[in-house]
Amino acid sequence: MGKAFVIAVDGPGGAGKGELTKRLAKELGYDLLDSGAIYRVLAYAVRKAGLAMFDEDSIVQEAQVLSLSFEIQDDGVHVFLGDEDVSKAIRTEECGLNASKVAPHPLVRQALLQRQRDFAKEPGLVADGRDMGTIVFPDAQVKIFLDASPEVRAKRRVLQLEQAGKEADFDLILQEITERDERDRNRPVAPLKPAEDALILDSTNMSIEEVFNTAMDYIKSKQQ
Ligand code: DC
Repeated sequence: MGKAFVIAVDGPGGAGKGELTKRLAKELGYDLLDSGAIYRVLAYAVRKAGLAMFDEDSIVQEAQVLSLSFEIQDDGVHVFLGDEDVSKAIRTEECGLNASKVAPHPLVRQALLQRQRDFAKEPGLVADGRDMGTIVFPDAQVKIFLDASPEVRAKRRVLQLEQAGKEADFDLILQEITERDERDRNRPVAPLKPAEDALILDSTNMSIEEVFNTAMDYIKSKQQ
């Protein structure tokens, strides 16, 4: 039996990982793992259960029984907690911030590790996260670290919100992005950092097409 070809894409929030990984998975016919959605659903479940974000024991228990599923529907991938469609609810800034608060607990990460590894099936997987290339798939055939300046990431987020008909405050979003970055980069377990063998792509001055083409060229060079 062959082995799944794994493409690990890591980087801070808003660097364009979501769009890049979606396009790569479509182009290559691979599955997609949005690992951030798992941490977001956990944060949502923790909130719903009325637990505190620092209560590691209870959060670990919640992570162990988390009834999470992804379902492909006509308008894209939907995320479920039990039979509740939480796709929209987990995309709020607050849920993202809470996800970054449940994520540093080592036992929480341990509880979610195998669940993420189980996504690696033939022909291949594109995995989007913070520790895909360093911890979850250290043997991934391709590792990409996608970065961008905080200002550009905040600008993109504002645009995204405005396109969805929502109000957006640039300064507030920049502050939230900076706060989340700090937490993700400075946590002792599985911090956000490039794997030693990762291709580092700074998308600050690149269009999504340029990022996609550069990533595809790199993937092709690794598939030969
Ligand atoms: O990628 P995202 O914005 O959906 O991720 C939300 C939070 O989840 C992020 O701030 C940190 C955490 N996360 C993580 O710790 N490890 C991952 N592999 C993915 C996300």
